[in-house]
Amino acid sequence: MLKTFKRWVSSEYANLSKSDLLTEILKHPIPVHVGIITDGNGRWAKKRGLPRTAGHAAGMKRVREIIRAAGRVGIQVLTFYSFSTENWKRPHEEVNYLMKLPLEFLRTDLDELVRQNVKVQMLGEIERTPAYTQSALRKFEEKTKNNTGLILNFAINYGARDEIIRAIQHIIEDVEKGNIVKEEINEELMSRYLLTRGLPDPDLIIRTSGEIRVSNFLLWQLAYSELWFTDELWPDFTEKMFYQAILDYQCRSRRYGAV
Ligand code: FPP
Repeated sequence: MLKTFKRWVSSEYANLSKSDLLTEILKHPIPVHVGIITDGNGRWAKKRGLPRTAGHAAGMKRVREIIRAAGRVGIQVLTFYSFSTENWKRPHEEVNYLMKLPLEFLRTDLDELVRQNVKVQMLGEIERTPAYTQSALRKFEEKTKNNTGLILNFAINYGARDEIIRAIQHIIEDVEKGNIVKEEINEELMSRYLLTRGLPDPDLIIRTSGEIRVSNFLLWQLAYSELWFTDELWPDFTEKMFYQAILDYQCRSRRYGAV
């Protein structure tokens, strides 16, 4: 058991350089969709005697770095769990700071994302975020909507149980309206009522900061995802670690319940 656990949290490729890792990764099938739970910003700041917001600022830099790395590797969909439906319970000042991050990101990164052909999309009920947050997020979507490269999802005010409940409500509405019949309800139909409609399920989910749980992230979609955990706090998560996670993923054999 311990051996299996160790495989999750440490990589056998720790001694390879970043460019050797990249070369190795590119020889094997690349995960199409990678989801990341970016955890540990607060602890990173606390360790340095800084306010938690400084951890989020440092985390933002890592987000940028990993988007670039995902493009290099040829990942098609990258989803960040940026703000959960539970995160509203945090101190007002911290929530305020997080809500302003998209504005800052827009100012610093929109042009590069457009140049890199990245298509930015949101998952979650962003209507509940302040007007300035919504307008920054909508601007990202609007300015990148015709891009055909990496699909970059930010899950903001997202909760998987909430997503599933809404999907069920919409399915019931459509049954009542006669748009579908009960017998048509299957996994494929359910997927079309989720916020990720049209996107492949994640192949790989990464969570930083040593927490070994999925915290209401893409619960339906991760049924067959490979999970990869690391003790590193998100602001310390490097491009090299990202490549290690992908290489670990490539070494696992996915049987989808078959032998
Ligand atoms: C978790 O760390 C991190 C968050 C709740 C926020 C993550 C957000 C970003 C990295 C930026 C997102 C950017 C855009 C543009 C949407 P934590 O605060 O829970 O850390 P802790 O567990 O150590 O307290």
